[in-house]
Amino acid sequence: MATPPLVDSFGRVHDNLRISVTDRCNIRCFYCMPEEGVEYMDRADILSFEEIERFVRVAASLGVTKIRITGGEPLVRRDLPVLIEKLLSVPGIRDLALTTNAVLLQDQAKALYGAGLRRLNVHLDTLDRARFFEITRRDELQRVLAGIDESLRLGFDPVKINAVAVKDLTEADIVPLARFGRERGVEIRYIEFMPLDGQSLWGRSRVLTQDAMIAMLTREIGPLEAIPGRDPSAPASEYRFLDGAGTVGFIASVSKPFCMNCNRIRLTSDGKLRYCLFAIEETDVKELLRRGGSDDEIGAVIRSNLREKWAGHQIGTPQFVAPPRPMHAIGG
Ligand code: 5AD
Ligand code: SF4
Repeated sequence: MATPPLVDSFGRVHDNLRISVTDRCNIRCFYCMPEEGVEYMDRADILSFEEIERFVRVAASLGVTKIRITGGEPLVRRDLPVLIEKLLSVPGIRDLALTTNAVLLQDQAKALYGAGLRRLNVHLDTLDRARFFEITRRDELQRVLAGIDESLRLGFDPVKINAVAVKDLTEADIVPLARFGRERGVEIRYIEFMPLDGQSLWGRSRVLTQDAMIAMLTREIGPLEAIPGRDPSAPASEYRFLDGAGTVGFIASVSKPFCMNCNRIRLTSDGKLRYCLFAIEETDVKELLRRGGSDDEIGAVIRSNLREKWAGHQIGTPQFVAPPRPMHAIGG
């Protein structure tokens, strides 16, 4: 008998696992981390590659087919290509992607490609050096751009850019990013600012919405049309420019929540399972992995965490509670 898939109490099938491999980062995006005094986890608490691989084998046997590696910044984790090779060899894993800020990408792209990675999401909010510094508190724009160029040269496909859109801050970046993407065949995915900063900087009034961005792009570049028939569980709604040059995507987590189509579970770098980016409770699997728990026991923990999954995050309602971990410790 086939193992039943990971279905939650709302009937959502979960085949997508996001793995945070570190909570460390080499830049300091304000919407994710405080500028000073970031407390990192103890290295002894971080899952080893062997522990991650073991977890993935069990998750794959329960129907997980897609994996995204996140951080913090995953490229600060030593020997990441070794993990990529291990995960690509797990039976059932059909799709592996990495989200990176690209500061270290130029140096590591070749090894990542050699390990079999093809799909990259690069996090970049602006092409303006001063604003890059304002957002990330680091002067690394040139290295990020060099990393993107190198990954395109090596043939990564697709390369997508994630840009967090913040009102009264990144309006002037929306159009230049789209032009940059159109020139390079890179999709820009605009992400509405979410309350994940760990410092309560978020407010509904700081969200630059999908509709506002579509209006800007239409006015400055040209008309867009929704691309029909995309995977309904994909968080981004995608649009193409009618002139045929390029597509853009919007992750409208605040103005158009897509929770009802969510197919994702998350593993933090210290081995906690989270059924939602915004989950308050999490389930530990590290202890089980470390004391040699069986596949069945690990599977039972995954299922029990998923049973708790709620309908959605409720951002912007009075019921919403920001998660106790900041974004860099959850993993995007
Ligand atoms: N709101 C929206 N997106 C965020 N990210 C990080 N913090 C936030 C936030 N507060 C995005 C970054 C990163 C991805 C993992 O999550 O773009 O690429
Ligand atoms: Fe680092 Fe990503 Fe957080 Fe920016 S959003 S500080 S790149 S972990």
